Amino acid sequence: MEATREVARIIRERANVVAFTGAGISVEAGIPAFRGGQGLWEKYDPMEYAQIDAFLRHPEKVWTMLREMADVVFRAKPSPAHNALGAMERAGLLNAVITQNVDGLHQMGGNSNVIEYHGNHRRLKCLTCSRTSVFTEEAAKVRPYPTCEKCGTPLKPDAVFFGEPIPVQAILRANHEVKSCKIMMIIGTSGVVYPAADIPFTAASEGATVVEINVSPTPFTSSITNHFLDGSASTIMPGIMDELGLKRD
Ligand code: OAD
Ligand code: ZN
Repeated sequence: MEATREVARIIRERANVVAFTGAGISVEAGIPAFRGGQGLWEKYDPMEYAQIDAFLRHPEKVWTMLREMADVVFRAKPSPAHNALGAMERAGLLNAVITQNVDGLHQMGGNSNVIEYHGNHRRLKCLTCSRTSVFTEEAAKVRPYPTCEKCGTPLKPDAVFFGEPIPVQAILRANHEVKSCKIMMIIGTSGVVYPAADIPFTAASEGATVVEINVSPTPFTSSITNHFLDGSASTIMPGIMDELGLKRD
């Protein structure tokens, strides 16, 4: 495909790619996105289930959703698109992945510089004593919810809820990567949640070429996207790998 070939050409030429990913890249890994059709937010109102005050007030209710999400995340395997980003890093073409996803699949796909803007669902955190622990299948089974061994507070997955701040280290690392990237590759995000959605705009204003992969247009598409590749992440990314002459996994 012409557009895919052109994107591969500029990646080879400029390297220094930073990927900015959202739930769409994990759909083919077995995790439904948040918005649209099968989306988690179609079933659960995020203001009732993903808001920090809602969690503090009704941890038992919120844990019904968290348990379901854990079940899906624990079973997911990296998609061909995750693996392609791993291959791009090994080839020296990709500097970092900035992700809004909390599923840990970029690390499993072979990326080492992964900036988790919204934290990670595979870790549990105590909001009272800040202790963190691995979110195990056993912990997910505890009713009504797992609690901190040390202080008894209800544990929360270490993922950012609405009303919570973005982890400071993620902000600092993302700013650094965005300033030095030549190509911003947006993959599978609706671009409606801020401050994360600022990232591609900052890259564009710093002079990066914007490549976007999505099955439908987003607020980025008509404003900053230079090359829109219309299709699922797991068909487009292997196509780019082929054009780059890189092994797919
Ligand atoms: P969304 O569910 O909002 O958007 C998913 C995007 O992926 C949409 O633009 C889809 O068109 C696209 N998409 C779906 N399937 C795809 C596929 N196979 N290949 C490529 N693209 C596909 O998810 P996010 O943008 O990640 O935050 O949502 C951002 C934030 O909102 C999340 O991090 C989460 C959520 O509320 C918090 O909970 C704080
Ligand atoms: Zn504690």
